Amino acid sequence: MARKVTQGPMCVGLTSMTGLLWLLVANTAAGQTAEAFYASDVEAIVQRKCITCHRSGGQAGYTELRFTSSASSNHGVFDSFVNNPTKGARASTVLSKIRGASGHGGGQVISQGSADYQTFSSYMDLLSADEQPVDSGVLEVSLEEPVEGQVHTGVGNLRGWAVASEGITKVEILIDGVLAFEAPYGGSRGDVGGAFPDVAGSSASGFSLAFNYSALVAGSHTLTAVAYDALGETKESSASFEVVRFDSPFIADPNAVNLSNASCTVSSDEISIVNARVDGSLLDLMLKWRTAEQGFEIVEIR
Ligand code: HEC
Repeated sequence: MARKVTQGPMCVGLTSMTGLLWLLVANTAAGQTAEAFYASDVEAIVQRKCITCHRSGGQAGYTELRFTSSASSNHGVFDSFVNNPTKGARASTVLSKIRGASGHGGGQVISQGSADYQTFSSYMDLLSADEQPVDSGVLEVSLEEPVEGQVHTGVGNLRGWAVASEGITKVEILIDGVLAFEAPYGGSRGDVGGAFPDVAGSSASGFSLAFNYSALVAGSHTLTAVAYDALGETKESSASFEVVRFDSPFIADPNAVNLSNASCTVSSDEISIVNARVDGSLLDLMLKWRTAEQGFEIVEIR
């Protein structure tokens, strides 16, 4: 038996509408690191002006400064020389040796005031600078569905992500403040991985499950995701939302919905259906496009 919804052409157009949810991932361009600066600006000078003596077998091969053709290991050589025994302790030694002071075995190799000297001086500053606040333990959680302030009904998503430098051990879900269950954790989230490149496992940080919103009583609710890291620290993210539902929390009969005598009007991103027969009752329904769900959802049942 064919069922037909009385519909205007707009009704069809709307259902083909697509929307994209882009997580705008802020590019956390940290200040230039000493290593990056070494590779881009200093390495060439070292190859030109230092390595003839400062290599194994060279005139300065017995010193701590022995360079090779690898920029990253050469940076490592400077790092351990300059920051020993304390951060920046021997930065001034390097600067004075290269301008021929402090009895440099190689004499003056770079004159003070030259561009190369300036480059060395900046590099020493970067090497001596305090490290960026070392990853002082990231612990973040974000509940993405249910969506704050929105209406949810039927079986929908319950999802979000959580990251921790110490590793996430579990994500608990509380409904109206009461522990309900643990959410399965570890789903692929490339976008979160991009936002937290320094946190191990951040690209597999999703939690999600199908959740029957209609199992809750109609009205307002709050759902909270609590993320635990390996140190037992917690962080939570909540959303308050409205549940609209049919009388039955789950309509099992596949023939329970009949729109044969219903009519449909559309406006903006909403579809209004009048006289829908659902599970024996004649109801008016309102559907609205919802970005998070990437589809139309029932937001009103009258
Ligand atoms: C002509 C050879 C020669 C060149 C070129 C040369 N050096 Fe040296 N350098 C030496 C010798 C020999 C010593 C060991 C004696 C001393 O401590 O000055 C030395 C020592 C040093 C030291 C002290 C190392 C330690 O273990 O205490 C530093 C720092 C240094 N050089 C930096 C540089 C830098 C940077 C360059 C390039 C910009 C450079 N030198 C170029 C010969 C050279």
